[in-house]
Amino acid sequence: MCGIVGYIGKKDAQEVLLEGLKRLEYRGYDSSGIALMKDKEDLSEKKQFFLKVIKAVGKVMCLEEKLSKEKLSSHIGIAHTRWATHGKPSEKNAHPHQDDGGYVAIVHNGIIENYKELKEKLEKRGHTFVSETDSEVIAQCIGDKMKTKSFEEAFFLTLKELRGAYAVVAVSPSDPEKILAARFSSPLVLGVGKEEYILASDVSALVEYTDKVVYIEDNEAVLLTPQGYSLRTFSNRAKGERKIETLEWSSDQAKKEGFAHYMLKEIFQQPHALTDTMRGRILLEEGMVRLGGLSSVEKKLRNITKIVLVGCGTARCASLVGEYMIEEYAGISVEVEYAHEFRYKKSLLDKKTAVIVLSQSGETADTLASVREAKRKGVLTLGIVNVVGSTIARETDAGIYNHAGPEIAVASTKAFTSQLIVLALLTVYLGRQRGMSLVMGKRILREIQTLPRKIQSILDDAKKIKKVAEKYSAFESMFFLGRKYNYPVALEGSIKLKEISYIHAEGLATGELKHGPIAMIDKNFPSFFLALNDSVYEKSVTGIEEVKARSGKTIALVTKGDKKVSKMVDDVLEIPKTLEMLTPILSVIPLQLFSYYIASKRNLDVDKPRNLAKSVTVE
Ligand code: AGP
Ligand code: GLU
Repeated sequence: MCGIVGYIGKKDAQEVLLEGLKRLEYRGYDSSGIALMKDKEDLSEKKQFFLKVIKAVGKVMCLEEKLSKEKLSSHIGIAHTRWATHGKPSEKNAHPHQDDGGYVAIVHNGIIENYKELKEKLEKRGHTFVSETDSEVIAQCIGDKMKTKSFEEAFFLTLKELRGAYAVVAVSPSDPEKILAARFSSPLVLGVGKEEYILASDVSALVEYTDKVVYIEDNEAVLLTPQGYSLRTFSNRAKGERKIETLEWSSDQAKKEGFAHYMLKEIFQQPHALTDTMRGRILLEEGMVRLGGLSSVEKKLRNITKIVLVGCGTARCASLVGEYMIEEYAGISVEVEYAHEFRYKKSLLDKKTAVIVLSQSGETADTLASVREAKRKGVLTLGIVNVVGSTIARETDAGIYNHAGPEIAVASTKAFTSQLIVLALLTVYLGRQRGMSLVMGKRILREIQTLPRKIQSILDDAKKIKKVAEKYSAFESMFFLGRKYNYPVALEGSIKLKEISYIHAEGLATGELKHGPIAMIDKNFPSFFLALNDSVYEKSVTGIEEVKARSGKTIALVTKGDKKVSKMVDDVLEIPKTLEMLTPILSVIPLQLFSYYIASKRNLDVDKPRNLAKSVTVE
């Protein structure tokens, strides 16, 4: 999710931290904040150290403006750009968070899964929370322990209580010349300068100051003082020396972490992003999922007999997969609508209908209008949204966040796969409210948990996908064909190719080919088949035969181990086996890469394709 910076050294902390935040801005953010330790020389003998915390909603510029009014000399501080996961973007939800005793300030990147339990415990001990975030528990937890323990002891004891994903950096006026930080699943890197140290979520924030870095490992903490740094275990034991690495990236490359484009970075981020989507939601032993955002409508959902899934573009493709999933496993009738059609249509909605809208940005005008229209008709509205606090998230009755982190490239990739994970979780949730057995619930959830690993294995094969893609980069038209669960993936594959490579592409249900589109086929019109080893495998094979008989070039995506299709087609790509309902989460990955490599071979502006915008806020 978003960005952290920490500084200790001789420079003006405020300047370094702000510069760092600006460099992390590309990650997407909704608010920011800074905590500065008042300098020793500014204090009279008896006065205590104290922290100055300033926050602002919006761009880092807004924070900068606030700070310019009250400049504070400081050489130690922490800062954060937030990409909200818990609680809307607001000043009180922005980081740094402090405990109510004034012992500590922290910035946190990630999600604390057990924050509700911890919060209840701390409230019982008399603590008052001021934000809606999960992160505040970290500050309160450390502060609570600091009544009797040192900053260091309290920090390390707190780490033992946290579950989830975090990079956390803390400072305390009780121990003013120290920064403590730890990482578990969220990124953190230490820049080693001359008598100065900078902690950051990624190197783009520190590359300006130093090219010497130590990558903090998972399950590792670090203690910084003006004199040096020490890597620690979570039990606060010193670890051995780690090699200091030298960066070879320019600061622009650093933002993309070495990837040529944000789109490629986001494709490769998927194993991690989807793990975040699932985090804290799978209750394997109960074959059930916990969807906190739906708790207020749980009873209503039990009585629902019809669902209308609404979205545009990629979000609509995800909806179509959701239709197959929910109908097959939860036994609820589903309709899928384009938001721009739904808003003007006379839909037959009743009290037993739920309208579920899907939107990465949460700001798409047509999708938002659909929410308002559905509400006017008095039906339950739910949102599957990636951006916390976005308009759609606020206006729907309840919802589920993707938690996939900011998506920068116009072409949607990780938002799509995370929408599919959410839909799969929702299917189990609704299914288990109805007839789905414990065994089936467990089976689906166990398989969902294997997906990040399986996606990684596809990404490891990117070179092969690139080779095939480059072979097809000069064609001017292409079909994508799939059946059942992979029909919407064919549609998504065609959107991807069109929008970034400007090649005319059409997605079709394979069975439709013979009803008209096959007339297009000749040697200059290739077809990309999704021919996976599922319940419609044989039918996909027939489609391939039909195209080959007309001299059409064929590419096929098959399940690992496939013998038949592989021998028939001109080019073949593979994905690992999974449950049929989950195949789209794997099969779309080679299609994303295929489009990406074609567009970059054609030297196009992959991240900002012509005529398009990331979020379509006009009708
Ligand atoms: C996909 O690559 C496109 N950029 C586009 O189809 C997008 O999915 C659509 O505009 C919907 O956006 P949303 O998810 O933010 O509502
Ligand atoms: N979960 C935290 C919040 O919502 C941190 C989000 C982030 O990483 O920016 O505030």
